[in-house]
Amino acid sequence: MRFKPEAGHGANNGLGIARERLNRIKDQFPEISYGDLWTLAGVAAIQEAGGPTINWRAGRIDGQETDSPPEGRLPDASRPDGKHSRDIFYKMGFNDQEIVALLGAHAMGRCHPDRSGFDGPWTASPTVFTNTFYTELLGRKWVERKWSGPKQFEDKESKSLMMLPADMAMSTDKEFRKWVEVYAKDEKKFFEDFAKVTQKLFELGCNFDEKTKVYQFKPTNA
Ligand code: HEM
Repeated sequence: MRFKPEAGHGANNGLGIARERLNRIKDQFPEISYGDLWTLAGVAAIQEAGGPTINWRAGRIDGQETDSPPEGRLPDASRPDGKHSRDIFYKMGFNDQEIVALLGAHAMGRCHPDRSGFDGPWTASPTVFTNTFYTELLGRKWVERKWSGPKQFEDKESKSLMMLPADMAMSTDKEFRKWVEVYAKDEKKFFEDFAKVTQKLFELGCNFDEKTKVYQFKPTNA
């Protein structure tokens, strides 16, 4: 994503802001690879927001411009069918349970009309890592928002929260929904599974051996 082809993919809109922030750290510590820095920042952000400790290992080797993948390999938020999410994530070796666990990250942050075109947060506490993506998805009535932007859903009662069509597939698809129900009931299990699958995501393409040191960082407020 450092290079124009991948930075310009629609699904990466807005991530230039995060890359810019991290470049300030890269300038101070040029010896860390971008791959290590970005994944380490992800681990730190999740933990600082109250999420689980995620095992982290160093040693990613950065790709070059010619390694940029073609557009279309990232999930399309406007696709309401489970098949699309499966096509994207199965190719990377994830199963249904892991897809649902990863999507729990949408408890954090929000959509921006000037980035993805969608609008609003998924939960009322978007700076805290919780299992509320699942509890909100199951606990509220979701209706299509009437607006001039892309199709998205809002909670009927307060109209303050949102779901993407791709998020809705987590409750309309039977296999996905099973896991949404597990994680809505059991935040501890969600944290454990999220930590495992995020380590897997962050280590895709890395051939770490058994001897590679595993770091577990403590949040600064612990
Ligand atoms: C089917 C898969 C996914 C789709 C379709 C999807 C789609 C989106 C979209 C459209 C946005 C809004 C971007 C913006 O307007 O700024 C977003 C934001 C976000 N996504 Fe996803 N996403 C998916 C999977 C994931 C995964 C696997 C993670 C992490 C494990 C994740 C974490 C986030 C976070 C934290 C934000 C908030 C960013 C912010 O506040 O600026 N998403 N996602």
